[in-house]
Parts: sequence; structure tokens; C-alpha cells
Amino acid sequence: MRRLTVPAIRGRKADGATRDPLVMLTAYTARQAQLLDEHCDILLVGDSLGQVIYGLPSTLQVTLDMMIAHGAAVVRGSYHSLVVVDMPFGTYEGGPAKAFESASRIMAETGCAAVKLEGGEAMAETIAFLSQRGIPVMAHVGLTPQAVNSLGGYGARGRSQQEHDKIIADGKAVQDAGAFAVVAEGVIEPIAVALTGSLEIPVIGIGASARCDGQVLVTEDMLGMFERVPRFVKRYEDLAGVISKAAGTYAAEVRAREFPTADQTYQPK
Ligand code: KIV
Ligand code: NA
Repeated sequence: MRRLTVPAIRGRKADGATRDPLVMLTAYTARQAQLLDEHCDILLVGDSLGQVIYGLPSTLQVTLDMMIAHGAAVVRGSYHSLVVVDMPFGTYEGGPAKAFESASRIMAETGCAAVKLEGGEAMAETIAFLSQRGIPVMAHVGLTPQAVNSLGGYGARGRSQQEHDKIIADGKAVQDAGAFAVVAEGVIEPIAVALTGSLEIPVIGIGASARCDGQVLVTEDMLGMFERVPRFVKRYEDLAGVISKAAGTYAAEVRAREFPTADQTYQPK
């Protein structure tokens, strides 16, 4: 099976993503990518890895080198899904040339097919610059976690008319600039529905609406690795419980000298 391409993903909207929504999950490691690949259309190497993998307080401390190391691992671990790598804070906002330098490193050093960056109208020029030079861009509007200090928190966006109009304008701006898809995060449902209905590019929701052209979640959130998750997360498993139980059993067996047994022990021939 050939890897899905950017035009194929973009084309899914015209082909009726309403009937066949795009499935996207985050992946940060090769093995995780292997397990998710056959179920997904897009694997996102999200800068959420700052909190999820590195225990950082926000995504603002994530570096280009971290994104490149994990991006390369996810590309190595997958062959079907389109791999999109997040551009970390501080590596693209300075202007189109700076963004191209960062994005071209991500593309060349990971083998991914596209980058994602946060922002709407303010990033339009940069999105146009990259996408006209061989770097497909997925945009990200609404709740943009890299702007947490400006937004004042991770609450849902779009409850005031001003915020509502801004998010709609951001979606239009990134489409016109050449983004091939856009993530709409943490927006009230009417905005997600309006964006999905008015844009020609796929709108991938997270904390948005089931009527978006696709959905994305942070895999560890959906697997139940964390106690505290945003309200928009559905937990499909309790991996934290599974891991804790296994570690507890192992610890008890080590302390009781019940592990290793003959099965796990080498003897002379
Ligand atoms: O970093 C991330 O995981 C993301 C998704 C939640 C959209 O940007
Ligand atoms: Na992100």
C-alpha cells in the first residue's frame, strides 16, 4: 500500500469526507506509529510531545531537534499514513524565510510529507511562502496551545462574536494562503460546523464537532495514560491502569524472588 499523499488528503473533502471522515492521531515513536498506521490516514508528530513525553509545562519549550528526532522515528515506523510534523514555537513566527529554514530541516531530516503550524491570518504569508516552495502546510486555528500566554489558558474559543469572526477569518486566510488542511481545536461547535461548511480544504476537529471533515486526538490522552485530560477527550482505554498493574505485579514477584523463573533463565548446555 502506497503512502497517502497531501493531494489525496486534500481531495478527500471533494470526494465526500462527510461520508468518510479523515482519521488522525498523534504519534511520537516508531513502535507507536507501527501500531496506529493501519488505522489512520494521518499521523501527527505533535509538539504535544513536550508535555506527553518530556514532562514539560507547555509546548513552548519544545525544540526543532526534538521534533526532528521523533518525526524521523514516526516516518520509519509507518508506511501508509501521511506523516505531518508540528513546527515548534519560535521556529517559524519570525518570518517566511526563518520558517522555510526550519521547515526544510524538518522535511529533509525526517522524511515527513508536511508540517503543521499554529495561526491564521498572521501566518498567511508564511503558509503561502512554504506551500509555494514544496512544503505542504497544515494550519491550526482556534485554541492554539503555543499562544497559551496570550490566550490566558486552554479554554474553548469562539464564545464572543469577536473571537467567532476571528476564527472564521483565520480559516479562510489559511485556505487562501495554500494550506492543504486545517486543524480546528477547542472551538464551540457552531464555529466548527461553519468552518467545515465554508472551506474547501479538510477541517480536522479536536474539541470541535463530529461534523468536521476528520478528527484528531492525542493518542496518550485517548489511551487513558493521564488522569487529567481536556473534556473533549474520550478515553478508549485505561493504559495507565494496565501499566501500573503490570509494574506492581513485576515488583511483587521480584521482591518475592518469583521472577525470573526457569523459563527466563539460561543454564549451561
Ligand atoms: O500537538 C498536538 O498534538 C496537536 C494536536 C492536538 C492537534 O497539535
Ligand atoms: Na501541536
